[in-house]
Amino acid sequence: MSSPISQRVSDIQPFRVVEMLARAKALEAQGRDIVHMQAGEPDFTTAPAIIEAGMAALARGETQYSDANGLWSLRQAIADYYRSDYGVDIDPKRVMITPGASGALLLITALLVDQGQSVLMTDPGYPCNPNFIRLMEGESQLVPVGPEHDFQLTADLVRQYWRRTEDGQPLTVAALVASPANPTGAALSQEALASLLAAVDQQGGQLVVDEIYHGLDFRPAGTERAVTSIVELTDQAFVINSFSKYFGMTGWRLGWLVAPEWALPGLEKLAQNLFISMSTMAQHAALQCFTPATRQLLDARRDEFQRRCDLLLPALEAMGFIIPHYPEGGLYIYADISGFNGRFGADSQAFCHCLLEEHGIALTPGADFGDYRSETMVRFAFTTSIERITFAIEKMQRIFMV
Ligand SMILES: Cc1ncc(COP(=O)(O)O)c(C=O)c1O
Repeated sequence: MSSPISQRVSDIQPFRVVEMLARAKALEAQGRDIVHMQAGEPDFTTAPAIIEAGMAALARGETQYSDANGLWSLRQAIADYYRSDYGVDIDPKRVMITPGASGALLLITALLVDQGQSVLMTDPGYPCNPNFIRLMEGESQLVPVGPEHDFQLTADLVRQYWRRTEDGQPLTVAALVASPANPTGAALSQEALASLLAAVDQQGGQLVVDEIYHGLDFRPAGTERAVTSIVELTDQAFVINSFSKYFGMTGWRLGWLVAPEWALPGLEKLAQNLFISMSTMAQHAALQCFTPATRQLLDARRDEFQRRCDLLLPALEAMGFIIPHYPEGGLYIYADISGFNGRFGADSQAFCHCLLEEHGIALTPGADFGDYRSETMVRFAFTTSIERITFAIEKMQRIFMV
């Protein structure tokens, strides 16, 4: 008998980071002490003012659907944020609230991708991206990128990989990048973004930039933002962002997109049908993200992530890990284990297994982010306290420096 499960679902890969978390939790349930360096979410609880605003919204009875595009006041607050932090005026109409960056990815891929069409993206990259494309009956074109490309798509790679039919019809319709990226923390400079934009434009395609790690960009002391947003260069690209990472609201499931004007009716139609509304109380809570007091707290948390990275990165290098790209932001260090010559497992999967099962340190193997050189790569997430990171460093020094 044939399977009742659709082919597209059979083709979709499980989100292995979540499986790793489940294994780490199972070991904890057996009484083991596990250092969690696999989780892709801030370990801080949502800022108290945001939680209070959420509770106040519930107490006021804000429990009904909101507009499919999101609360107007929140869309305005996001437009104000682009003005204050990026110096760019955006019509709040172009901002749509979504259920996390995940919801934005769903809307944008559904809008742009027809059956058989493809989207360029990096390998390594965020593991769910290819699955969104598969869901749309499209194809992801994974472009291998290493340190020689700063782990990002370049204009040359766009020209090299863009596909057309023999009679010149585009098969590739978009390029999707994240800046700073997961798992590498690699950010596109203003120049790199501009040339990528020009190359995609030249092919007649769309550029989608996932800026979910903006706000968590690492800054030399006393300097302002260290990353460029695509909104500074054009009003014709798609921007994905989220309340999950810098704003620390992963479980509230709230994000946003900024779209070109022509795309809005299509996106709205999709949002109405797929979501009807985002969580109304979560949106009221998110309005608190932009107050000076909350921003101050979130910036202090960002500085803490930077301190953790500054502690972990040189310690890993001293142990023999190779860090091919120093992160410009985000929550991760992508590290090469080839210097250990297979002493702790034949590949990064076995290495992570060994570290978790034998030493109680949970990492994510490179295979979760693609195929390209992934067998020698692991991702460290510095989403645990300085004390726990120090504890893990001391443990690893005893394992690797003998
Ligand atoms: C690059 C990237 N995009 C999107 C997401 C999805 O985030 P969310 O749906 O929580 O906003 C993640 C989560 O880790 C991510 O790393």
